[in-house]
Amino acid sequence: MRVVILSDPAAVAQFAADELVVRLRRRPAQVLGLATGGTPVELYQRIIQAHRRGDVSLSQVTTFNLDEYVGLAPEHPASYRSFMNAQLFDHVDVPRPNTHVPLGAASDLAAEACRYEGAIAQAGGIDWQLLGIGRDGHIAFNEPGSSLRSRTRVKTLTAQTRQDNARFFASLDDVPRSALTMGIGTILDARSILLMATGESKAAAIAACVEGPITASVPASALQWHAATTIVVDRAAAAQLHHAAYYLEAEAERQRLVPSP
Ligand code: PGA
Repeated sequence: MRVVILSDPAAVAQFAADELVVRLRRRPAQVLGLATGGTPVELYQRIIQAHRRGDVSLSQVTTFNLDEYVGLAPEHPASYRSFMNAQLFDHVDVPRPNTHVPLGAASDLAAEACRYEGAIAQAGGIDWQLLGIGRDGHIAFNEPGSSLRSRTRVKTLTAQTRQDNARFFASLDDVPRSALTMGIGTILDARSILLMATGESKAAAIAACVEGPITASVPASALQWHAATTIVVDRAAAAQLHHAAYYLEAEAERQRLVPSP
């Protein structure tokens, strides 16, 4: 795992934006796995700015989002489809049919999960997967106890996740109780992964993800199995990492050996 510790959330967003822009400039036709939540918003803003400057095009990109709330139609203002349209897709040149979000309002959720996995495979698999992390160590909506080999399916949200996401809804009661989510196995199939985390509320989850045992109790710890994962965090989210000094040193050494493009 590459662990990058930066000063603040703005630096984390810039790091992620630089990585994505460099990747897209090298190879404009890519399959991107995208995430929702508060953490990637600033990254998406920077991608929009880069697009407006003419630095990057998403015209050949295909995207797959990690998850969607069960029961919310795409048009629902709190759906992850609405979130992605408003935060990114409405402002860049990705053709809308190339953007995929699981249909949480599907009448047959098992069939929809199967269809989603098939669509990812049909697109050739995910080249670059963006992730956030929940305070409970979830990635996508793989809550503690999720099989480390799980595929796209319905998961029940924990009380903590519903509480954390209540800010996007009128009230806690309005937060759906389950979601259709890529599995941990689906995520681990991505060719490369970038997990972003900021703020002290994520510090315990980041320490467990990076330095704890691999366990279904901390779904993000499964990333230790992945050969090309970068964890980019601000100082607050890195606060409980025992080997922080080593990660900083390793990153400085990496910059010396492989200067950023
Ligand atoms: P957040 O959510 O970015 O809103 O903190 C991350 C997550 O739950 O995966």
